[in-house]
Amino acid sequence: MTELVQVENLGRAFDALWAVNGVSFSVERGELLGLIGPNGAGKSTLYNLLAGALAPTRGEIVFDGQRVTGWKPYHMARVGMARTFQIPKPYRRLSVVENVMLASFQRHRSVRSARVFAEEILADVGLSDHVTAPVTTLTVGLLKRLEVARALALEPKLVLFDEIMAGLTPTEVAAMTGFVSTLPARGITVIWVEHVLHAIMKTATRVMVLDRGQLIANDAPKAVARDAAVIKAYFGEEISLA
Ligand SMILES: Nc1ncnc2c1ncn2[C@@H]1O[C@H](COP(=O)(O)OP(=O)(O)OP(=O)(O)O)[C@@H](O)[C@H]1O
Ligand SMILES: [Mg+2]
Repeated sequence: MTELVQVENLGRAFDALWAVNGVSFSVERGELLGLIGPNGAGKSTLYNLLAGALAPTRGEIVFDGQRVTGWKPYHMARVGMARTFQIPKPYRRLSVVENVMLASFQRHRSVRSARVFAEEILADVGLSDHVTAPVTTLTVGLLKRLEVARALALEPKLVLFDEIMAGLTPTEVAAMTGFVSTLPARGITVIWVEHVLHAIMKTATRVMVLDRGQLIANDAPKAVARDAAVIKAYFGEEISLA
């Protein structure tokens, strides 16, 4: 496997606060990487830096062999990086399938082909019964699935998921976890931010832990679960992976 992402000494300050502070890591192709940490640790800010929504104050990002530091979101999407938003941001005047088609047009030129592809992805995420529904009728759980579908419709090399489980029922969490774990085999590398820890710990090949802008752990789930610094900063107590 070769590296898809290399991040070197990445930092972003908001006035005096370093939301992300000296973060370095790499991601291999085919990984399913968990990214966890307490509220305000800098997880979403790190995503904004990777996806080009925020410019870094310092540091470098290499994606798929190119230095992409400071590139804009549309440019990052074009070279294969997709992300979901912690708060879903669908186009509220459009239907479910139209929202996904806007993304699938990036790689599909004809309306027909974009629509067929969008419907396939909607089936993958369990939204087949809602294809023509206005997005305003969707529950939180269904909106989260739409967010995932829109990201995958870009046919990314890397997808950044930001709390796609929040607000889901246990059955929905199990279904989504099963689905996410199939993505690496389809050639999609995943970084996954989630507070639903059992889902991450069960599926991730590796887990990174952010605390106050800094990486305090970067290891296999089992090792992270008993890491003293992580327990102190986030878990409160050792967590069971059974
Ligand atoms: N645009 C901004 N302007 C000022 N401060 C910001 C901005 N975005 C984030 N921050 C601050 O940066 C820190 C990290 O926030 P971030 O949203 O990245 O955390 P997070 O790890 O995603 O938290 P959560 O688990 O609650 O989603 C917080 O202290 C937050 O208040
Ligand atoms: Mg966040």
